[in-house]
Amino acid sequence: MTHKLLLLAGDGIGPEAMAEVKKLIAVMNENGASFVTEEGLVGGCAYDAHGAAISDADMAKATAADAVLFGAVGGPKWDGVPYDVRPEAGLLRLRKDLELFANLRPAICYPALASSSSLKQDVIEGLDILILRELTGGVYFGEPKQITDLGNGQKRAVDTQVYDTYEIERIAAMAFELARTRNNHVTSMEKRNVMKSGVLWNEVVTATHKAYSDVKLDHMLADAGGMQLVRWPKQFDVIVTDNLFGDMLSDVAAMLTGSLGMLPSASLGAPDAKTGKRKALYEPVHGSAPDIAGKGIANPIAMIASFAMCLRYSFDMVVEADRLEAAIAAVLADGLRTKDIMSDGMREVGTVEMGDAIIAKYREAA
Ligand code: NAD
Ligand code: IPM
Ligand code: MN
Repeated sequence: MTHKLLLLAGDGIGPEAMAEVKKLIAVMNENGASFVTEEGLVGGCAYDAHGAAISDADMAKATAADAVLFGAVGGPKWDGVPYDVRPEAGLLRLRKDLELFANLRPAICYPALASSSSLKQDVIEGLDILILRELTGGVYFGEPKQITDLGNGQKRAVDTQVYDTYEIERIAAMAFELARTRNNHVTSMEKRNVMKSGVLWNEVVTATHKAYSDVKLDHMLADAGGMQLVRWPKQFDVIVTDNLFGDMLSDVAAMLTGSLGMLPSASLGAPDAKTGKRKALYEPVHGSAPDIAGKGIANPIAMIASFAMCLRYSFDMVVEADRLEAAIAAVLADGLRTKDIMSDGMREVGTVEMGDAIIAKYREAA
């Protein structure tokens, strides 16, 4: 059976990181896998080509694909473009139109990197947490969302945080299901002390928990959660939170692992009623990194690890996913480092050399 992948490399370091995954796909196909890839444009490059952050034709390709691999979008070049067609709008449209409500952002500390985090080694050694971010609701999409001119020299900006019961129920259920495959512990984060959506979030997560009483559930205010994430992150297993808090907390979690360049993610929809298959998009947590784009020094690990998540969640290729993740760990154990995770006594390599080394390890194990 062929696996249809749509590759949307995007802007900045997106194409640099995606190039390493393309090499990997070619190697896997030589070894009997059957990936068929298509490419499309998203972000600033799509805006330059046809004035939209993603075209309807590429949206149709994304809908038809078994999975989408996404690089990164954005950059200073497009700072002045209209809000509706800014590069980030392409990513948001993909998430919304494909109904990718569940964003899995695992943060693990590779043993070889335990000493290179900005936090103390014992705080992050052995870390393995999963942030589950609600991805299609909340303040990202709530209406009204506008700036109005008040006519007295003042303007008013409004963003709206909206959550319906079903949106909280389905992400909470997913958190409990995922916790069952891990350490059976969910921490839900909101701000029920100031936000109505936090009150409902807390209520619905608690009600959903009734069907999962074997899983331990804690509630934490999201600001305190941010503090606890840095103080003692190993107290967490699965963190479930809304779209905006999840965005911020996952960048914090990225630094626990050493660099934004290390953190992969999977964005999943609900299983199809007939086939059981989920729509899915896999992307690194980091952005287009304009400060290092074009220099060949970007860390491709977040992108490669996102592809490992694709193998695991979209294609049930668990052996290959494990092998790829082990190849990443092995290369780090050998002392290879891109600039963002470089430390004393290690060997600094560029994007391509890091990708090649991971692919070589993967081949050795195949
Ligand atoms: P960023 O993630 O692009 O970069 C933040 C810092 O991390 C930079 O110093 C960058 O050099 C470093 N970094 C990020 N990824 C790295 C990697 N793989 N290897 C080495 N270093 C890496 O965030 P930003 O600078 O706030 O945003 C830049 C642009 O990217 C903005 O337009 C933003 O909207 C966009 N963005 C896109 C996505 C996405 O496409 N999913 C995510 C976040 C930000
Ligand atoms: C992320 C990014 C996006 C977000 C941007 C680029 C729209 O920061 O995926 O974490 O805010 O969700
Ligand atoms: Mn983000």
